[in-house]
Amino acid sequence: MTTTSADGLMPFYAMEILNRARALEAEGRSICHLELGEPGQPPAPRVLEAVAKALPDPQGYTNAKGLLALRQGLAAYYSSQHGVAVDPELMLATMGSSSGFVLAFHTAFRPGARIAITRPGYPAYVNTLLGLGFGVAEIPVSAANGWHLTGADIAAAHALQPFEGLLFASPANPTGAAVDRKQLADIVDTCARLGVRLISDEIYHGLDYRGASVSALELTRDAIVINSFSKYYCMTGWRIGWMVLPEDLIRRGEILQQNLFISAPTLSQIAARVALGERDYAEEQKAAYAQNRTLLADGLREIGFDLASAGDGAFYAYAGIRDFANDSMRFCLDMLQQAGVAATPGVDFDRSEGNGFVRFSFAGTRPSIEMALERLRAFVRAGS
Ligand SMILES: Cc1ncc(COP(=O)(O)O)c(C=O)c1O
Repeated sequence: MTTTSADGLMPFYAMEILNRARALEAEGRSICHLELGEPGQPPAPRVLEAVAKALPDPQGYTNAKGLLALRQGLAAYYSSQHGVAVDPELMLATMGSSSGFVLAFHTAFRPGARIAITRPGYPAYVNTLLGLGFGVAEIPVSAANGWHLTGADIAAAHALQPFEGLLFASPANPTGAAVDRKQLADIVDTCARLGVRLISDEIYHGLDYRGASVSALELTRDAIVINSFSKYYCMTGWRIGWMVLPEDLIRRGEILQQNLFISAPTLSQIAARVALGERDYAEEQKAAYAQNRTLLADGLREIGFDLASAGDGAFYAYAGIRDFANDSMRFCLDMLQQAGVAATPGVDFDRSEGNGFVRFSFAGTRPSIEMALERLRAFVRAGS
């Protein structure tokens, strides 16, 4: 399971754990799925209705930037949620935020350029960068500082090893850490001072439990902003997201999109346009995650996991396992095999110190989290 290729590309262990969990289910085992950051609910009913209505129409390509109606809906979203005017011509509809990363890297940098990311961080950042021939600079963030990235952290890392870009998510995966306006301004200003292009991954915006997320667009127009319908709107498999590019990059981004992907899936663009108007539904899901968050954090702490913060946003608990084990992959495999609880080893997010952590997702249902906690209690007791 720990295959690493010569360029450092590694598997996405959450997916590998999922495969193993599915194999156990095929043998008749019951598994609590806390390994994937996937909402348990479908998209809003009106989204499904709109898609059913559109389905018989020929679903041709859209223009590379995406349906104008979708981009206008996104402009309305930025105006109402963030108080900023964003020109729909600066937006591209993408295949989830994942294709947005590929476009962002190739639009703003040339292969070989070094891009900084936080450690721990979303595994696809490092793997995508390495796989596409970019360099990576890791900036460690710590539980002691609430897993928050600061301008001082960026400047210190840059002094050690310069980089051209910074890819940063708030709220973050796997820690749930979110920066407030002042902290984001510190990051934006530091990047501007160092000549570093900021890529702001805003995929978990909306899933914030301590105050509304601030978009980088509220503070600068030099950043690339990436977002997605996957999480807040419960549309992971629809593969639809968007990006906002600075004026100096939009044409190159559009050309790359034309050539790499042609356009985002048309039906998913139609669905996304409708989803933007269904925030009440999304807020209902968020209210359930908020309850799960407290349930999981309290339960994990009571069992003996080290969890300094329940997370400011997203739907993850990044819990220390030092009292139980020093190999997070082994711990997750045993937990899956013996307790029927699937979670993701910290090594997915942090190749240096991830062995001390496991990420539990609370995007699923309350009963599945309750059952997982019950099983974990017995698993830990049996091991101690
Ligand atoms: C921080 C972060 N960014 C991006 C993604 C990719 O999401 P998608 O391509 O579905 O938009 C994820 C998925 O878990 C994530 O956690």
